[in-house]
Amino acid sequence: MDYLTHQLLEQSAVKKLVEQLLQDKASWEDGKKTAGSYASLQKNNLQLNRKSKTSIEISESIRNKMKSNPLIKSYSLPRQFHGINFTRTGEEQGYGYHVDNPYMSSGRSDLSFTLFLNEPEDYQGGELSIQTIQTHKEIKLPAGYLVIYPSTSLHSVKKVTKGERLVCIGWIQSYIRSNEDRNLLFGIDAGAKGLLAEHGRSPQLDLIFQAYSNLVRRLGD
Ligand code: NI
Repeated sequence: MDYLTHQLLEQSAVKKLVEQLLQDKASWEDGKKTAGSYASLQKNNLQLNRKSKTSIEISESIRNKMKSNPLIKSYSLPRQFHGINFTRTGEEQGYGYHVDNPYMSSGRSDLSFTLFLNEPEDYQGGELSIQTIQTHKEIKLPAGYLVIYPSTSLHSVKKVTKGERLVCIGWIQSYIRSNEDRNLLFGIDAGAKGLLAEHGRSPQLDLIFQAYSNLVRRLGD
């Protein structure tokens, strides 16, 4: 299972954003409201009302940050970033193993992301756990960092035993539905861009970028 971790926001930007989020006390509600009926049995957290002004404003700024990030663009080949929302998981809360809905009112989920908004030292537990065939991978990142992983995987949020975990989550509908195809394309793009940085433009690189673009055309839906 492949995934990408990356710093999206500087510490000062995260601080400002968190202040704004926590100030809007009236807009936080029970997370069960937005889970499917099966997943809701596993879900136990607080979520910021997506229609609130705070949520709309901050989601938009995070979406723009992600859109303009070259690494995220190359890895996920995004058609759209959607369903962005904010959750708080307090003591004794978590979210058991589940798979995200494939189609949401906001779009198809090819990739899921979690942007961590407070520091790992601020809470115990609360790891994002992604299941692989043999084992699972636990992820807990510094504030401002995100992980992007295939929505096809079973994942959970381990129970928080102390403090509170604050994250932004959302989904990416990609031009490329298949994880395997997307990863192949990422390898070609990253390699070609590395060559470009090291040696500059060349007719040979033009051919590689041409083939890359045409592969995206062929594999895209
Ligand atoms: Ni999920």
